[in-house]
Amino acid sequence: MGDKGCVPGKPPGPARDWTTMKKTTLTTLAPDALEEQKAQEEQEAMERQAAYPPGGCCGNSPASGAGLRGRLAEGHVLATLMDEHARILVQLDRLEYLARQLSLADERGVLEEAISVPDAHERGMLEEVIEVTERLVGAESHHQREEDVLFPELVRLGIEGPPRVMEMEHTDLRERERTLLATTAAALAGERPAAARVAVQAVGLVRFLREHIAKEDGVLYPTALAAIGEAAWDEIRRRCDAIGYCCGHHHGP
Ligand SMILES: [Fe+2]
Ligand SMILES: [Fe+2]
Repeated sequence: MGDKGCVPGKPPGPARDWTTMKKTTLTTLAPDALEEQKAQEEQEAMERQAAYPPGGCCGNSPASGAGLRGRLAEGHVLATLMDEHARILVQLDRLEYLARQLSLADERGVLEEAISVPDAHERGMLEEVIEVTERLVGAESHHQREEDVLFPELVRLGIEGPPRVMEMEHTDLRERERTLLATTAAALAGERPAAARVAVQAVGLVRFLREHIAKEDGVLYPTALAAIGEAAWDEIRRRCDAIGYCCGHHHGP
């Protein structure tokens, strides 16, 4: 944990409340607001870079999470979180497949030429996009355990940057999921441009969540294992039990 660019330590720039940060689209912004948006995005990029540099940090490379799971006992808080990640990644593979199929249909002009409602095949794909996205939304207890239990524990130990960035990404993730559900519902209702946008939004969500999971598995969790004392994990586990589990896990107290 000797890299001062990583943890512990505050990221560059003034402290900000990321959880209340409002997203706006470029097309609706005035020039001044565009400048502000650009500065804000640059600030976010700096925070990410400081907390998760490309080569890894704090002795943890992004790939080092691969061996971490094997070192954790069944039922360990981090083992459960990693197993849930594995199940979320399966859902992302499926969502990526559906997005590719929708994109191919769009390239063939199927989506543009179709009459007011999607055909049965297209409709089936769009309905499955909703099912898969709702499963991702159903992983909320996973994010809650991180935000309410694991991240505060790291902050208490002086490790502030990585959990702050992950919490910011949770906010972004929830917005992406909401947007994809709304766009897919509009496509099912017969909005043709919406049908084409589903593929783009789905691919964006898949890439975003895969990268988020890679950072947690490869950097944040190994950092947590190294920083949090052995004796503290039982109490952390009890607090996680109180929140509950997702993705097929049903740990009891
Ligand atoms: Fe997370
Ligand atoms: Fe996670």
